[in-house]
Amino acid sequence: MSNERRITLEINGAAETTSVPAHRTLLEALRGLGHVDVKCGCEKGDCGACAVLLDGVAVDSCLTLAWQAEGHAITTLAGLGTPERMHPLQQAFADLGAAQCGYCTPGMIIAAESLLRRVPDPSEDEIRVALSGNLCRCTGYTKIFDAVAAAAAVMSGKGDAR
Ligand code: FES
Ligand code: FES
Repeated sequence: MSNERRITLEINGAAETTSVPAHRTLLEALRGLGHVDVKCGCEKGDCGACAVLLDGVAVDSCLTLAWQAEGHAITTLAGLGTPERMHPLQQAFADLGAAQCGYCTPGMIIAAESLLRRVPDPSEDEIRVALSGNLCRCTGYTKIFDAVAAAAAVMSGKGDAR
C-alpha cells in the first residue's frame, strides 16, 4: 500500500494538487511542482535559501513538511513580483547590486518581505536580525541591508529605490 497522500497547496494564489509521502518536505514538493525559484541549499535550516511565506510569515520550507502547508497561503519569490512588474524589494536588490550569484536572493527577499509586513519602517538592526537566518557567500551583506532599507522607504512612500 502506498504511503502517499494527495494534498492541495495554495501557491501564489493558485491551488495545486500533488501526491506526497508523509516525510516529503515543502521544499521538495514546491520544486517538484516546478517552483524552482525556491532554492535548495543546506536542507537543514541553516541557510534560508528555501524560505517561503506561509500566511505572510517567512519559514524555511526545508523544515516544513508538505502536508503541514495544506490550508495555508504559500508565497514564493515569483508570487511577489515578475521581471515586468517587480516588487520594490526586487527592484531595490537589482538597482543597488544586492545580488551577485543570486542563489540566496529569493530567500533574502522573502525574509525581508516578512519583516516589512510586520515592521514597515525597520531600523538597520531590525533588518540585520530579520535576515540573520539567511546566508550569502557573495555580497558581504551591506548591499542587501541597504536594499531592504531602500525598499522599505519606497513602500512607505518616503523614498526612491535608486
Ligand atoms: S535549504 Fe532550507 S535553510 Fe537551507
Ligand atoms: S548573491 Fe551569491 S550567495 Fe548571495
